[in-house]
Amino acid sequence: MPASRTRLPSWQKLEEHRRALRGTHLRQLFARDPRRFRRFSLEACGLLLDYSKQRVTATTLRLLAALARECHLETWIERLYSGERINTTENRAALHTALRARRPVIVEGRDLAREAREVLGRMRSFAQGVREGGVRGAGGRPFTDVLHLGIGGSALGPRLACEALAPYAGRLRLHFVSNVDGAAISAALAALDPRSTLVIIASKTFTTQETLANAAAAAAWLRRRLPAGIAVRHLCAVTAEPARAVAFGVPAERVFPFWEWVGGRYSLWSAVGLPIALAVGMERFEQMLAGAREMDGHFRSAPLLGNMPVVLGLIGVWNASFLGAASRAVLPYDERLRLLPSYLQQLEMESCGKRVTRAGAAVDYATAPATWGGTGTDSQHAWFQWLHQGTQVVPAEFIACRVPHHRLRRHHDILLANFLAQTAALAFGMDERQAAAAMRSEGLPHSEIRRLLAHRVLPGNRPTASIVLERLEPRTLGALIALYEHKVFVESVIWDVNAFDQWGVELGKTLGGRILSQLRDGVRAQALDASTRGLIRHLRGRSG
Ligand code: F6P
Repeated sequence: MPASRTRLPSWQKLEEHRRALRGTHLRQLFARDPRRFRRFSLEACGLLLDYSKQRVTATTLRLLAALARECHLETWIERLYSGERINTTENRAALHTALRARRPVIVEGRDLAREAREVLGRMRSFAQGVREGGVRGAGGRPFTDVLHLGIGGSALGPRLACEALAPYAGRLRLHFVSNVDGAAISAALAALDPRSTLVIIASKTFTTQETLANAAAAAAWLRRRLPAGIAVRHLCAVTAEPARAVAFGVPAERVFPFWEWVGGRYSLWSAVGLPIALAVGMERFEQMLAGAREMDGHFRSAPLLGNMPVVLGLIGVWNASFLGAASRAVLPYDERLRLLPSYLQQLEMESCGKRVTRAGAAVDYATAPATWGGTGTDSQHAWFQWLHQGTQVVPAEFIACRVPHHRLRRHHDILLANFLAQTAALAFGMDERQAAAAMRSEGLPHSEIRRLLAHRVLPGNRPTASIVLERLEPRTLGALIALYEHKVFVESVIWDVNAFDQWGVELGKTLGGRILSQLRDGVRAQALDASTRGLIRHLRGRSG
């Protein structure tokens, strides 16, 4: 069994370095080096990454790069791109990069990039047909609404992209239902006209309970409300199990396949992106793929410390495993990126939320932090207090766009000023001298200043990274998402965990299935604990 990462010389040097750095404040790091922004920022693929407000020095970066080399990161990147079965617990490759490749990606004699392009071609004609009215619904009506049913990786990506790219949207209205709470699908169907609604069922496995329950409800709704035999014209499916979709009742020519080598949370670039093509057009979806492809090229070729996903990933490891950050906030200062925190939550936490190494040994270091967040400036007025003065240090990523889509220049200036103010306040805080001076200028008497001083101090030294997009458009959105995919891969290599499986969610699924029959029919299928039995009795409204 390979030795723990903590035994590597670079890991141990990083530990020593962390101890030496303890007590060093970002204020000192900035005071010492006026070129800090120049030294600790990178530009690539229409994105700027400023990591100068992280608690790192040139030595930290040098040691992290040494760690990356000792973990053979460059070899792992080649393994990823070449289609090696690096998802060893499921014996699969992880080839989301092939979905956006222009060059052949030959694996075991098949050109996977060509297969991906063929499906994109089918998507193109279908999306064009629906958008332009060539593909119609009941009674020859053009489709006005699209209802996408899917969950997790089969929903979060397209939903994020459809919101982010709303300024490019055409006439189709997109709706997403993922939860199995009947309130969600009931509300969605109540607001739709079945005669002009297209339903997409997206599920890699086509066995996911939530998606199939919602799909059954939507299909029944279509059948009830449309003339006999017409409902199927309103259905399409995206899946790696086409036979199951056909068995469900989706016409074969309306099933858009993808493949086992595409992980669910990495599937947005496949036919899972169909809602994006329907909303903004296939050309724009292709531009997203092009942005991701650009990031793929950068990731594969740029030197370690000039490589944006590598730097972001190494900083993620530094914060979680060395500085002890148990969570990390994602803060888009852009309303259209509202769903980015949820998307990244799945990407980071399902990929790297692991407690054993690839070889199955327990890790003796922290892996993925909790990812969560919200938009600026809303979050400033809700929980930023905790970020600034709480007892936990939470590294945060701020994402903003230089050029907005709207014409409200003043709004954009206010938004950007807040983004800049928050990253500065988190980094530098306000010491006692500054807090006292602020209170003096407010005219407070000396006794009040003494009473309030401790409350008015902000410690600062709270690390942030800023990512600035030139503009939120398909290409930069593609690059941004691919940046994060690769960042997570880098972390997984350093942490020595498999980023592409998710065994942790299986037990709950199996138990849920068994409990359902007990809850619904009172069938005692298996021995349950006293708490679960008590809750079932309560929920069934019975005492027995
Ligand atoms: O339960 C987790 C998960 O398997 C995710 O990994 C996946 O994105 C989601 O469920 C949906 O799965 P499917 O696309 O097979 O319906």
